[in-house]
Amino acid sequence: MKTQESDPRRRSVADMRPTSGPTGDGPGPITKRAVVDVYQRLAPFYDATFGRFIATRYHRHLAEVVTASGAGQVLEIGVGTGLSLQHYAAETNVVGIDLCPNMLRKARRRVDRGVTARVRLLLADGERLPFADESYGIVVLFFVMSVTPSPAAILEEVVRVLRPNGQVLMVNHFSGVKGLGWIERRFEPLAHRLGFRSRLPIDEVLGHPQLRHEQVRCLWPIGFFRLVRLRKNSFLLT
Ligand SMILES: C[S@@+](CC[C@H](N)C(=O)[O-])C[C@H]1O[C@@H](n2cnc3c(N)ncnc32)[C@H](O)[C@@H]1O
Repeated sequence: MKTQESDPRRRSVADMRPTSGPTGDGPGPITKRAVVDVYQRLAPFYDATFGRFIATRYHRHLAEVVTASGAGQVLEIGVGTGLSLQHYAAETNVVGIDLCPNMLRKARRRVDRGVTARVRLLLADGERLPFADESYGIVVLFFVMSVTPSPAAILEEVVRVLRPNGQVLMVNHFSGVKGLGWIERRFEPLAHRLGFRSRLPIDEVLGHPQLRHEQVRCLWPIGFFRLVRLRKNSFLLT
């Protein structure tokens, strides 16, 4: 069993060096420091902007999918201000982690105001999860993969902490939506300055050898966001 304490390769969240860059020929790497800076500043406005107009449309539905999966122990990576937390069923144990202290502070306030699920919130990095191997039945990532330095590094950690047959539920904008290619390219430099990549090919999350994809569904409107459901193999592929 590997934990954060026992594995010398793991570093603390305070170590914010860049770990990898975006794919393709776009601008340079998104760093963890950039992600933290952006969300530290965005936290007071997040719920009223992105949260109000985009994210909350999906959280109730996503939490219902999590509940229906029957996995009692849920890990939410990049929990942000905790917009999903009020929608989980009472029998759910949710651990929410995030890199950004201000986002987590808002999530904590939300939990203090009252949610039905049992929720624990931690400042932690999705690339170095402080959890034992095979400790979660489901890992959720809502709107995270485009705003994180290395989706591949997160997926490695997700696979490590997932139980065999456990699920990954992800919602994200992936590039390749018909008619949006030129907007993604035009928007890329600005998006990068705001701390996210406008172009993330879906193959980057579908190619992990330990995960098989069970569902890819375009979400309303126009399929800009896609729901991806992956399942960890119950046997080891070498
Ligand atoms: C767009 S917000 C989404 C928040 C929330 N999931 C929602 O649906 O509203 C992305 C969040 O991911 C967090 N994040 C990005 N990279 C992360 C990482 N490597 N580990 C933990 N959190 C991360 C950011 O700090 C931010 O709070």
